[in-house]
Amino acid sequence: MPIATIEWKNNCIRIIDQTKLPLKLKHLDCCNIKTIWKAIKELKVRGAPAIGIAGALGVILGIKDFPGQDIEGFKKKLDQTVKYLASSRPTAVNLFWALERMKKRAYSNLNLSLPKIKKLLLDESLKILEEDKSICRKMADYGAKLIQDGDTCLTVCNAGALATADYGTALGVFYRAKEEGKAFKVYACETRPLLQGARLTSWELKEHNIDVTLIADNTAGYLMKEGKIDKVFAGADRVAANGDTANKIGTFNLALLSHYHQIPFYIVAPSSTFDLKLKSGKGIPIEHRKPQEVICLQSKKVAHFQVKVYNPAFDVTLHKFIRAFVTEKGLIKPPFAKNIPNAIE
Ligand code: MRU
Repeated sequence: MPIATIEWKNNCIRIIDQTKLPLKLKHLDCCNIKTIWKAIKELKVRGAPAIGIAGALGVILGIKDFPGQDIEGFKKKLDQTVKYLASSRPTAVNLFWALERMKKRAYSNLNLSLPKIKKLLLDESLKILEEDKSICRKMADYGAKLIQDGDTCLTVCNAGALATADYGTALGVFYRAKEEGKAFKVYACETRPLLQGARLTSWELKEHNIDVTLIADNTAGYLMKEGKIDKVFAGADRVAANGDTANKIGTFNLALLSHYHQIPFYIVAPSSTFDLKLKSGKGIPIEHRKPQEVICLQSKKVAHFQVKVYNPAFDVTLHKFIRAFVTEKGLIKPPFAKNIPNAIE
């Protein structure tokens, strides 16, 4: 996959600045922790698995210049670093999963010298990045089996190479189906307010020669009623133990519409997106973002600048509207409350 969303290069995190796409393919080198925090916050790097990787590599930026051999001081620095990175965005659990994994790696090796601990942490963060690439491909293998010749699929937001180390979750399913020679079409919802579908998904799918058609978000119901959608594939930011799933705002609408029209609705997500500590979606923290994102369209005001705005970035799709989860461990089907913990733990 030619798109490397995030890399470790010359002691910095190199990301594609996704806010500039599709007009410019511009890389940004984040060489200190504040820059990567801001890049996550401002969606320069985004999508649950990519945020997790950015968090893990961000830990390296936070601790790499810690001097000397003071283990207690290092532990304090590591905890501060993890806490700071965790404050960037609240919903995608992959961030917290990756930060916890980094912390555990350090805490279980405190008997070693600091240079050795730092080396272990760098290796761990790069392992998280590499693992994501193979996990995406495993999900794609399972997911592509759900696509038949002649299908028309719908997707929302960007759950592609840009949202992961490469290849993607929901879009990875399309890439694999294409590699297998299947003929299918994809409709991409534009995904207001930040247009991840229009800016990122339509760009990614076009770059990979997938037959993609962009629609305004409110066109989905009409398309389904006309019988033009066979399957919906979406990614996820956090899945509770019962299958309730947080994903980009508007995903719940699509799931409800799919349910009404009896269209299979699939969530494609790695096990690092499952939060088994949460029994249901009620406990999932939902990020609320700046009013400007709704008032403006690509920095141009489209509404009264003093109008009240409500801007949750995610919603929660109830598990009963999800046909199955596509994970790197295979498909998870209902009853989710039983099958998710069995498959993920
Ligand atoms: O606000 P974003 O762009 O980070 O939201 C991303 C999504 O909602 C994606 O669909 C989700 O992270 C799945 S990514 C493989």
